[in-house]
Amino acid sequence: MEKQQLEELLKDMSLQEKVDQMLQITGRFYQMDINSVLTGPALQMGLIESDINMAGSILGTYGAKELKQIQKTYMEQHPHHIPMLFMMDIIHGMKTIFPMPLAMGASFEPELVRRCAQASAKEAAYSGLHVTFSPMVDLVRDARWGRVMESTGEDPYLNSRMAEAQVRGFQGESMSEEGRVCACVKHFAGYGAAVAGREYSAAELSERTLRQYYFPAYKAGIDAGAGMVMTAFNTIDNIPATANRWLMRDILRGEMGFGGVLISDFSAILETVVHGYAEDKKDAAKKAVEAGVDIDMMTGCYSENLAELVEQGIVPESLVDECVWRILDLKNKLGLFDNPYKDADEAKAEEVILCREHRALAREAAGKSCVLLKNENILPLNKEKKIAFIGPYTYCKKIISNWSVAGESKDCVSVKEAADEIFDSIHTSYHAGSQMTGRKVRFEGFSAFGKAAEPDDEEWGEEKERKELEEAVRAAKEAEIVVLSVGESYLHSGEACSRAFLDIPEVQMNLFRRIAEVNPNIVVVLFNGRPLDIREISAKSKALLVAWMPGTEGGHGIVDVLTGKVNPSGKLPMSFPYCVGQCPVFYNELSTGRPYREGDTNRYFSKYLDIPNKPLYPFGYGLSYSEFEISPVKLNKNSFCEGDVITASVTVKNTGEFPGTEVIQLYVQDVAASVARPVKELKGFEKVTLRESEEAVVSFRIDETMLSFIRADGTVGCEPGLFRIWVGNSSETSNMAEFWLTK
Ligand code: BGC
Ligand code: BGC
Repeated sequence: MEKQQLEELLKDMSLQEKVDQMLQITGRFYQMDINSVLTGPALQMGLIESDINMAGSILGTYGAKELKQIQKTYMEQHPHHIPMLFMMDIIHGMKTIFPMPLAMGASFEPELVRRCAQASAKEAAYSGLHVTFSPMVDLVRDARWGRVMESTGEDPYLNSRMAEAQVRGFQGESMSEEGRVCACVKHFAGYGAAVAGREYSAAELSERTLRQYYFPAYKAGIDAGAGMVMTAFNTIDNIPATANRWLMRDILRGEMGFGGVLISDFSAILETVVHGYAEDKKDAAKKAVEAGVDIDMMTGCYSENLAELVEQGIVPESLVDECVWRILDLKNKLGLFDNPYKDADEAKAEEVILCREHRALAREAAGKSCVLLKNENILPLNKEKKIAFIGPYTYCKKIISNWSVAGESKDCVSVKEAADEIFDSIHTSYHAGSQMTGRKVRFEGFSAFGKAAEPDDEEWGEEKERKELEEAVRAAKEAEIVVLSVGESYLHSGEACSRAFLDIPEVQMNLFRRIAEVNPNIVVVLFNGRPLDIREISAKSKALLVAWMPGTEGGHGIVDVLTGKVNPSGKLPMSFPYCVGQCPVFYNELSTGRPYREGDTNRYFSKYLDIPNKPLYPFGYGLSYSEFEISPVKLNKNSFCEGDVITASVTVKNTGEFPGTEVIQLYVQDVAASVARPVKELKGFEKVTLRESEEAVVSFRIDETMLSFIRADGTVGCEPGLFRIWVGNSSETSNMAEFWLTK
């Protein structure tokens, strides 16, 4: 539709029609009898039948046939026949589930991330959807927070590259293209900084920290063209993000230049009352619309109050028009005025969902996101050896995370199934050995999943528990190598899954200890939605492979790595703490005035009395089956002036016995500036693949934008002086050179 027609449409709409556009409700209301809806949750929200019938968008329902039907009925009833928007959380895949986003961060491969988002978009678009509530780009530093699984990690640069890759993958050149959906960058802003890692708690961030660390990834997603942004649940400077004018008007719209649709998070407008910021629903509606929130997700704040607020002259109608314009514009950009069904197509959906190509991509991604933390000459596995596959994750197919609306574990490939395809059954045995979390462990609020935390655990009686453990220990004793698949339950991470302890469930640790007593040759495969405290298993195993929640093709991806078909190349996108007492722990911190150096015996340094300062495994760390020699970093000059560039290069040589891939990382430090700068900041990375004995030169161009920051006076730019750069294969590299930036 031409812009002028769209403007005319807006002019012609009644106030009520406009307010309707600003409401989003769950699609479930459409799947139920309207009378049952009106006595249930909708009534609690303050909705009336017309709100439900006329809401401008719905969330959480998918399926080409169903959505086409909803669209048809809706448009017939709508006075202006405006099409409805269909949104859903496609976080790491629609039906083909890719590794969870933090795992994808470990790939350090934006192009892979883009391809996975593209495949997800295809499955979603043919299933009738228009918008995905993704990417989640919140910077995360505290492993206690359950939603770290949904982010790509602790680094602003890596997050930015991954944010734009996802937006490009979802939207392509234009979101109206076939097989594309609109991306929604979330949660704006600072949600990842929840105090003490406790879900929904406040974010205490200075403006400098917000700008320097937290804003870049949102900005990158917006610059890549994301059509939507979602607000965050937390407060920023004591004002709920969702009604925060400074954040939404000055920063998001003003500074970042975002012109798309801003949607509240689920019920977040109403929650501003609970925060103690709005007096009641009406005040909440006023404050949110003043902040420029276009769509109210799942509350009746707007639908009950906006029209009245306008009629009473409290909210100018122009503010409502502004919001509705952006919503109509998005519908138009998606091409819905020309074809309200967009790509909804049952046959095409069936063709692409879990198709061979998508499964192959999911397998590639699962392999590339595995991070090898330890390997004492035991991996890749020698298939001639006698191997016992033990642990609850040997068979478990619940490896797609807690956050896959449409994904199903029945479609997943377990470790056992994948191993069965290539290991000779004469040499292998398989045992669960223990339950996942223990049949007596209860998770509250997961009632939909059964009484026990893991319904499968419920089936275990004491007898089975004893027998399984015994059999596993016997198998471990008889085997030459044990592959132990253990970790968190998929229910341990995701929204509302904060944890105070980062342990592997006790039943599994018990299994690990019993096995370690009889066989030291343990390869641990870790399933996890977050960094865990893995001191004990790291110390007592020969190899340790982090597999995260690896998705539909998880088993294949893992076995590919275990057998050496895929040489691991993943790097940690988030530090693995030594223990929970270090959280939040991250590499790009400021120096204290008394930094501790190993060996310092004086007490008055920045350190703990009882644990080391360093995480157990740092950001950027990950091993390969190959060895890579990285030459000292060479600069083409020792000083350069503003406007110029300097080149840093290293020669990387594969000195190992396998072809392999290494992620070469560039870090920078401004040694002295008008404000203290981080000890190290990632500014670039490159993945190089080399055959045995092959070498290659990897170069990074450094220009002043890479050295810029928010100066003491608030302006952005660099300052002359001494800089250090490091080029290596982890954030702990000591391969350093220095240069001067002159005026
Ligand atoms: C989450 C969002 C999600 C929304 C809709 C909220 O609880 O915080 O990330 O997009 O629900 O499902
Ligand atoms: C302490 C101060 C103290 C000073 C002199 C410092 O290490 O931080 O509190 O006054 O020593 O003893």
